[in-house]
Amino acid sequence: MSEWETVKGHFLDLGLRDLHKCFNLTGPQMQHIAEKFHQAMLRGLTEQKGPLKMLPSFFNIPTGEESGVFLSIDFGGTNVRVSLVQLLGQGKIRVLKKISAFLKDPGGSYDYTAATATGGELFGFLAEQIAELIGVGETIPLGLTFSFPTEMQALNKAVLIGWTKEFNTLLTVGKDVNLLLHEALQERGLYGIKPVAVINDTVGTLMTAAYSNPRADIGSICGTGHNTCYLERQPPQEPHPMIINIESGNFNRLPANKYDRYLDLHSEKPGEQMLEKMVSGRYLGALMRLVLLGLIRKGCLFQGVSRKMVDFLSQAKNLDAEHISLVLGDNSPGFGETAVWLKDATGARDLAQHELQALKIIATLLTTRAARLVAATYAGVLGRLDPRLKRPHIIAIDGSLYEKMPGFASHLEKGLDEILQNSSRQVRLKLVKDGSGMGAAIAAAVAVAPG
Ligand code: BGC
Repeated sequence: MSEWETVKGHFLDLGLRDLHKCFNLTGPQMQHIAEKFHQAMLRGLTEQKGPLKMLPSFFNIPTGEESGVFLSIDFGGTNVRVSLVQLLGQGKIRVLKKISAFLKDPGGSYDYTAATATGGELFGFLAEQIAELIGVGETIPLGLTFSFPTEMQALNKAVLIGWTKEFNTLLTVGKDVNLLLHEALQERGLYGIKPVAVINDTVGTLMTAAYSNPRADIGSICGTGHNTCYLERQPPQEPHPMIINIESGNFNRLPANKYDRYLDLHSEKPGEQMLEKMVSGRYLGALMRLVLLGLIRKGCLFQGVSRKMVDFLSQAKNLDAEHISLVLGDNSPGFGETAVWLKDATGARDLAQHELQALKIIATLLTTRAARLVAATYAGVLGRLDPRLKRPHIIAIDGSLYEKMPGFASHLEKGLDEILQNSSRQVRLKLVKDGSGMGAAIAAAVAVAPG
């Protein structure tokens, strides 16, 4: 390495140290967040105040014996998934057919997530997917997983409180989303499809896990968005146990740094969903872009090609959670996969090894912090459920970050172990693939069950 490269490396090193200070989350900080989260849960439950909405779902966990054939529609991230599901009882589920479609056409011909579409158009699109899967003329109960904060007024009535994850579809907030779906189905002649239940995706994940294992009492999504629910044994206003959708993505007693504040200020809804903006797939790419642009401006990174890199990083679509996955999973000699991606995307050749390595270090810092923040909130929920951890618990998790982001799941587990110490053996994290969608079928079964 030439002397000049060592000096550049030195600047980069200083930049990375600074980032480490910004993104590192210590054990005591996790403990503190867990306590604050627990307090916020209590406040949300008893006073309906504070950052955690603690929304009743009206569902208990299933018995595992629900059975029959149901349609499930899972809406809330980058795509919509429709499945025909057979519940066989004894915790067994079979998917008979399924399709999925993007809510935003990668080719740019439609976007149901933005203010260019109305709720009517969005639900029309969902109804078309259903028609494609099963055709007109079938009679079948349907469960809808709707992954946004809603005020549940009945098992099949959910009023959208507000969009998150930068969605902005018009004429939907304040409306009953199940009614919008019902109307769209009617308009398309799908008279036999009965939307009988609406749930949040966290609730779906928990219900799916609990269908085969009653120890599951926490459900969570670590994907495009982030949120957690749990089985509240004594809901203040209800005589029976009920799953509560915490809407934990809105938690805000957090050590936000200058990158978090900048990202929040330039988001659709500044001041809202602070936890989600620090931990979820929808925002990790933006955080990484901000960090890289900061290092380039300070002259610590990509000096010879800074113009190309700045142009590239200024576009949101150029760096998202999937690119972070690529960087983290790049174990090739000399970070070859990262180099090829950047060369193809920007034309910048011969990037120095220590610069490519820096990308991996930054991706690790961001995703480790995300996992540890989530771990702290899980500890907060366990504090409410079972403070001394006398019983075993399963935390059911669905979502691309948990399933696919290299290192995320293990950092989450380690973070939780660090907080819970010896009692952590009572807690198991479990990937429940497509749990959010399957849960809608289970919810539909519960909703139509006699009694
Ligand atoms: C929504 C939650 C949802 C989570 C995961 C958040 O943006 O507010 O309702 O559960 O994303 O999809």
